[in-house]
Amino acid sequence: MKKIISLVLAFAMAASLAACSADDSSSESQTAKLTLATSADFPPYEYVADDGSYAGIDVEIAGKIAEKMGMELEVVNMDFNSIVASVSSGKYDMGMAGLTVTEDRLESVDFSDSYANGVQAIIVKEGSDIESVDDLYAEGASYTVGAQISTTGAIYFATDIEDGRTTCTLQEFNTGADAVLALSSGKIDCVIIDNEPAKSFVAANEGLKILETEYTNEDYAICVAKGNTELLDKINTALNELISDGTVQSIIDKYISADAQ
Ligand code: ARG
Repeated sequence: MKKIISLVLAFAMAASLAACSADDSSSESQTAKLTLATSADFPPYEYVADDGSYAGIDVEIAGKIAEKMGMELEVVNMDFNSIVASVSSGKYDMGMAGLTVTEDRLESVDFSDSYANGVQAIIVKEGSDIESVDDLYAEGASYTVGAQISTTGAIYFATDIEDGRTTCTLQEFNTGADAVLALSSGKIDCVIIDNEPAKSFVAANEGLKILETEYTNEDYAICVAKGNTELLDKINTALNELISDGTVQSIIDKYISADAQ
């Protein structure tokens, strides 16, 4: 009889332990996830750190926003080209990728308030014939210009070609790093890319420089699916708190040294 009782007890204990651990795991999954679509190929905004984790200005700001919303950030890395579409279809909650607010993108996604500025810059090889942006627009110019596919740099230059403002050609690359590699190996003549990534790539590759003249000035913001005002409001509230208490600036300063700005 004793044996049976202790067996029953042991069984009951095991069952309650199992119930406990089941509870634990369900409470873990109760911390809602905030999914961030990004393209971790754009230092210092987003990149894969040496330890394999995602790092950068956007990743850190997104982490703070998630924290304020009581959610857990999940970074989903993809081609830059896929970010707006996957956020617009509702697959991921938000997109942050040094993403410029443009009229075209506003047709498929909504944007938060802006948290940073970007300037399109031009990288050339040291000693290049291209000395300023104007050289790309000179009569009969036949340079090959590289840019990351679907970025504003690529879109603006493609429009300039279409409208007959330049006789140069555009070559699009999957990543900015691929474009820079093509430049280093002499396959193309310059790369149009946002100024902070331009600085990172020039620092990491010998024999390159950034032209003094800048191309355009843009606002970076977070995108969400069109009409998702509930999420957008929460993001804006969190973001504005992080801007006014200095968190955003200190994250930017951590990645971009003040004197280089
Ligand atoms: N600011 C540019 C744009 O919005 C380039 C952004 C590229 N971002 C990236 N993570 N590769 O088109």
